[in-house]
Amino acid sequence: MNPLKHVAIIMDGNGRWGLKNYNSRNKGHRYGLKTVEKIIKASIQNKISFLTLYAFSTENWKRPISEVSYLFKLLENFLNNKIFDLHKQQIKLKIIGKKNFSKKLNKLLLFCENKTKNNKKLQINLALNYGSKSEIINAVKLINKNKKKINETNISNCLYTKNIPDPDILIRTGNTNRLSNFLLWQISYSEIFFIKKLWPDFNEKDYNVIIKKFLKLKRNFGSI
Ligand code: FPP
Repeated sequence: MNPLKHVAIIMDGNGRWGLKNYNSRNKGHRYGLKTVEKIIKASIQNKISFLTLYAFSTENWKRPISEVSYLFKLLENFLNNKIFDLHKQQIKLKIIGKKNFSKKLNKLLLFCENKTKNNKKLQINLALNYGSKSEIINAVKLINKNKKKINETNISNCLYTKNIPDPDILIRTGNTNRLSNFLLWQISYSEIFFIKKLWPDFNEKDYNVIIKKFLKLKRNFGSI
């Protein structure tokens, strides 16, 4: 059995990469998407079941409208162009986060989720308009509303990641050592890798090095 089931990634550094190489933050996002495709492929090769990608946080709305619009256009084009290919590769797409986008994007996201819902090879959880604190608050509210006990199982079952095992690995690229409101509940026992490279420069080789390091770790989960 593969001890590595779930990898979560904070894909940081697109803006800096774009500015450095093309004097354009948006160009960095475009190249970042190429890295996403490489990492999806490498995840399948490594027989990983879940890949969670932080594509847009609840805090990212504070960016200039031109960058926000570009990111959503990129997402829309990616899904329109690739969803049938992803489906053919037996990839399931799930959105985690608050799905309150434009009517058109909400419809597209729903279509992609429905189309791929029975696929079993790799589940990609795309974190969009995602914030971990509000996810936990919503979970607690839901438990209260349903008059259930507050315990770990009930909280886990009320998160967007219900029925998804916690990440074994969390990777953050971009030479920044913070968690940025990402999966705070779910990464309690994840092995965390902070990587200096900016996301567009990150590649399958870097990914495989992390996986190799992970496979050598002895994970005690608080025991000895
Ligand atoms: C963080 O880098 C990256 C994002 C906020 C967006 C991530 C988006 C992509 C990788 C491309 C789109 C993905 C999909 C799936 C369509 P940053 O902009 O904060 O970089 P910086 O720290 O250098 O400013």
